[in-house]
Amino acid sequence: MSGKQIATIIKPDAHGLERAVARLEQGGLVAVPTETVYGLAARADNAAAVAGIYRAKGRPDFNPLITHIHSLAQAEHYAVLDERAHLLAEHFWPGPLTMVLPRREGAGLAPAVMAGLPTIALRMPRHRVMRALLKSVPFPLAAPSANRSGGVSPTSVDHVANSLGNAVDIILDGGSCEAGLESTIVALRPEGEWSLLRPGPLDRAQLANLLGRAEMTDKRGIEAPGQLASHYAPGKPVRLNATHAKDNEVMIGFGPIPGRWSLSEEGDLMEAAFRLYDCLHLAAAAEESAIAIAPLPEIGIGQAINDRLRRAAA
Ligand code: TXA
Ligand code: MG
Repeated sequence: MSGKQIATIIKPDAHGLERAVARLEQGGLVAVPTETVYGLAARADNAAAVAGIYRAKGRPDFNPLITHIHSLAQAEHYAVLDERAHLLAEHFWPGPLTMVLPRREGAGLAPAVMAGLPTIALRMPRHRVMRALLKSVPFPLAAPSANRSGGVSPTSVDHVANSLGNAVDIILDGGSCEAGLESTIVALRPEGEWSLLRPGPLDRAQLANLLGRAEMTDKRGIEAPGQLASHYAPGKPVRLNATHAKDNEVMIGFGPIPGRWSLSEEGDLMEAAFRLYDCLHLAAAAEESAIAIAPLPEIGIGQAINDRLRRAAA
């Protein structure tokens, strides 16, 4: 006997939210749906709670977490927001955008959240359930994607339960995540410079339009430490830009290229983002020993999908 309970899956009605809030207050772990992927949430002001996240995911301690907040005032308490940050917040918060900003000393977060960096990653999510939780607690929530470190991100309760079912106390059931890909991460640097640390539902062009200048190309600054070459790994070899499956492969199609599952038969990239992780989870569980995936155009959210696929194949 491992002694560890299996997670309780609960409906996010008023009673379910109350139970989740109680667990969070006690320093427990709660898996929560967001508009991007499911997050593994814990109170960000408590070192033991945050340590629980790293332990549950098997996450290396140099990889910082995103701090989730529900208001601009709360954001200002933890980070320094300049004019650009306010402009981005006005347009994209609440929503799938994470900003890496200079952090304020002594704001009361567990140091492990930032993993020793002078910056903090902040996101104001849009999903009803995550927002309800954030508004019910007096602390922000640290929440990485609710999967074992390096694995495929979860977009459904089943994905979370299969990956972290015996490491998390409660899973709030919010159905499938709307966007299906993790938030776009932008780092706002001094002197108006910025860089895209992780492509996502919002693309580079949308950011460049608002920020009024192109991304800095000389990236001497820190990259998102979690953007390691191999990530989102389904546990078997992945071959990209395939048109047919070989003998040992299961095929994931797109547009005119068929497969056992298709990311989108219509060739719709939003649908492909929504379906991507579910297809990878299905292919990971299939009997074939390898996965082949059709090419997707490098346009809009296609850039973020291809970024994830390259890492899944690395
Ligand atoms: O959509 C999302 O962002 C989801 C949901 C749950 O909000 N969360 C998520 O968290 O994807 P995670 O931990 O899987 O990815 C967070 C990324 C990591 O690559 C981490 O290295 C980076 O954010 N990060 C966090 N703080 C950072 C910082 N101060 N500077 C640079 N990168 C940072
Ligand atoms: Mg992740």
